[in-house]
Amino acid sequence: MARYYVTTPIYYVNDAPHIGHAYTTVIGDALCRWRRLHDDDVFFLTGTDEHGLKMLRAAEAQGVSPLELADRNSARFKAAWDELDIAYDQFIRTTEPRHYASVQRFLQTIYDNGDIELRTYEGLYCVPCEAYYTEDEAGPDTTCPIHTGRPLELLQEENYFFLLSKYEQRLLDFYAANPGAVYPESRRNEVLGFIRGGLQDISVSRTSFDWGVPLPWDEKHVAWVWFDALPNYITAAGYGDDPAAFEKWWPVDFHLVGKDIIRFHAVYWPAMLMSAGLEPPLHVAAHGWLLVGGEKMSKTKLNQIAPGDLVADFGVDGVRYHFLRDVSFGPDGDFSYEGMVARFNADLANQLGNLFSRVATVVTKKCGGVAPRAQEGSPLEEVAAEVYEAAAAGWARPNPAEALEATWRLVRETNAYLEANEPWKADPGDAVDVVMGDAVEALRIVAILASPALPTISQQIWERLSLPGLVADQRLPEAATWGGHPGGLAVEKGAPLFPRKG
Ligand code: MSP
Repeated sequence: MARYYVTTPIYYVNDAPHIGHAYTTVIGDALCRWRRLHDDDVFFLTGTDEHGLKMLRAAEAQGVSPLELADRNSARFKAAWDELDIAYDQFIRTTEPRHYASVQRFLQTIYDNGDIELRTYEGLYCVPCEAYYTEDEAGPDTTCPIHTGRPLELLQEENYFFLLSKYEQRLLDFYAANPGAVYPESRRNEVLGFIRGGLQDISVSRTSFDWGVPLPWDEKHVAWVWFDALPNYITAAGYGDDPAAFEKWWPVDFHLVGKDIIRFHAVYWPAMLMSAGLEPPLHVAAHGWLLVGGEKMSKTKLNQIAPGDLVADFGVDGVRYHFLRDVSFGPDGDFSYEGMVARFNADLANQLGNLFSRVATVVTKKCGGVAPRAQEGSPLEEVAAEVYEAAAAGWARPNPAEALEATWRLVRETNAYLEANEPWKADPGDAVDVVMGDAVEALRIVAILASPALPTISQQIWERLSLPGLVADQRLPEAATWGGHPGGLAVEKGAPLFPRKG
């Protein structure tokens, strides 16, 4: 049994969850479900990032304390993840006492190792990014390079600095030895380019406000929000309070992040870990943005879409499928309601939903309502084997779109097999039984392979085929082997799995 530790970013709670957040979280959840099907010992972590100036200002604007705002919005993220059937193992909040203890221990270790120094700093700061930018990095008229058009603020503070520059060569050595550590390739090149361009030391503390974790050796300072946020991944793994758990889970297998926060995860974070004597993450995988009308969602542009609104229209599995299938991992992807309807109708209603309903109808009419056994050497047997391999490769990358594209090949080919044989036109008998046995067996395999994306509907298919237990308890690759259906189980048609959208 392998262990598999996957994280999402922890989301800022100055704002409500939107589908950009849901996108990463659904990917993480599906990857973990795929690994659980292989009997891996999985740890899926998500949570909320609750300190920093941005939070403080948002709370002031709303006339509440920052903790009240964090409580309220953190609960909204949890509710959104419940709505999307996200099976996280832990939901961490950076305001938890265990996290304070972990951050303090982590920073103290780096300080004791001589990698943190006190300096006076003046720089151009972006509050939404919670980061300083150099003149070179700033956009036109000293604006934020990430938040287009937003002026940077000139801040001056006494700060502690992390000696990131010391880690340039070690990071380059690490990435040379681990070429797959940043995915996809384009992001790896960006990270290497940034390191080769020369690393500046970075400030790790603030004195202008106190909404954060105090530095243990100088309590006038609070940790810069990123130095409080990134260690969430070690806190949850037991760094502060559970050495045995930490030994088991660290280093993390995958940090899933958006492309805007790759530098924090693939440059600053590994260097900090190295300084603290801990191993860097095994993989950082960065996806693109979900764009609405060609732009990144943001509160100011009022183009945010709440995940729950889509669930009401497409069902949990419809929404999950869309994110996993329609947006390839890496580049930006355009979100549109019309695109979502088209994909829902094509893959879910017309392909999978139709396949199930045809199979159930013919088995009811021509096989006495009971599934025949699949034949050995069926033309679908080889397809199923290839599909499993291709899906496994897609999930491993990770590229869920590729994994699902592969899985739907089995759906399409089973539909084509039925169309070629037209069992609905034939009289009951051996010929029909052979075709329907194969089709039911293909559906059984599809239910398992699609379950990371469609946990609810896969289970419904499983139950309507009278298969015992839970689809999530099946174990791959054995469970995808042709011939797993014993034959002789009742098939129940039920209501359409994915009613077509108008
Ligand atoms: N709190 C930090 C992360 C700390 S991790 C130690 C943060 N939070 S965030 O809420 O602003 O963004 C979290 C993630 O959501 C980022 O990976 C970001 O890329 C992602 N997304 C935010 N908007 C998005 C889209 N429109 N599309 C896809 N992902 C998007 O950054």
